[in-house]
Amino acid sequence: MNILVTGGAGFIGSHTVVELVAAGHKPIIIDDFSNSDKSVLTGLRNILGYDVDFVEGDCNDESVLNKVFTDFSIDGVIHFAAAKAVGESVKLPLKYYEMNVGSLITLIKVMEAQKVSKLVFSSSCTVYGEPDIVPVTEETPRKPANSPYGNTKTIGEDILRDSVISGGNFQFVALRYFNPVGAHESAEIGELPNGVPSNLVPYITQAAIGLRDSLTIFGDDYDTADGTNIRDFIHVVDLAKAHVTAFEYLNKAPENFYDVFNVGSGQGNSVLELVKTFEKVNDLKLNYSIGNRRDGDTVKIYGDVTKANKILNWKTEKTLEDALKDAWRWECKLAKQK
Ligand code: WQD
Repeated sequence: MNILVTGGAGFIGSHTVVELVAAGHKPIIIDDFSNSDKSVLTGLRNILGYDVDFVEGDCNDESVLNKVFTDFSIDGVIHFAAAKAVGESVKLPLKYYEMNVGSLITLIKVMEAQKVSKLVFSSSCTVYGEPDIVPVTEETPRKPANSPYGNTKTIGEDILRDSVISGGNFQFVALRYFNPVGAHESAEIGELPNGVPSNLVPYITQAAIGLRDSLTIFGDDYDTADGTNIRDFIHVVDLAKAHVTAFEYLNKAPENFYDVFNVGSGQGNSVLELVKTFEKVNDLKLNYSIGNRRDGDTVKIYGDVTKANKILNWKTEKTLEDALKDAWRWECKLAKQK
């Protein structure tokens, strides 16, 4: 099927493009490069052996989207395009509501006009806030997000649900991600943070390769076994495959349908455990120190992924060790290209 991948030059989007082709689909990328790099297209060509159809454009532009749907006979959409820096969203809330919520509304309006019903939406475990109990299931109550970024994901889910309830001919699925990490084993694509990484793993790999002096672990006095935060780290390739199975699941769904799935590894690892695992699998010593807590950090969260396992027939195939080896191989490849 012809599947529009918005934000398809991004970290998760690009890995999903690879898995869509592997599953026999034809991905078409739309990206404005506000949070990605054109070099990703070269990486995709090196993996796929051909140039993926690509449009440089803003998903908030209704005329651009309508033209893409018409030009490429789009059958469905996987929607990644969004701003995702939690910290920045606190400083620039209107940018986040306009980009993330605005683009989703525009996309659904165009889908309605073009009579395209299938959409897989990139949501987030941030909708759970600080859960009272872990692991979280899809029935765990959502909590007020601790950032405008997280709020745009909660609002996004509500827009999907209400569009379906209104009787629109839509088949929507929201995937709640946890912490995507790693890179494609070819080291042709991977995470490309803008400037100083805010996320843990790219900061670790940059510290290990010498781009950063050392890693600061934001607090080790939390109520956890080793005092550091707990997260659900999932290999980006496993996450990418979940998008393909979720999209194909929509082919069997009723014509008016909405559901939501946790997509994580299903296990919790602490920040310190991840650091130690990174050192072990890559046989290196990482410079790190313990610093102050970071505002807004959730203490512990990881997902119960039973629903995706059973209904989507999806489960993770890669381990945290695989992800940390792949992330390091990718960082070393980037260093060689400089
Ligand atoms: C993870 C842990 C930090 C950097 C991410 C995404 C968010 C959402 C959920 C998708 C925390 C610690 C980090 C560092 C550190 N995903 N850390 N030193 O905050 O869980 O959020 O996953 O929607 O979009 O950003 O990820 O990688 O920033 O932090 O100690 O230099 O690592 O305190 O405990 P987070 P993260």
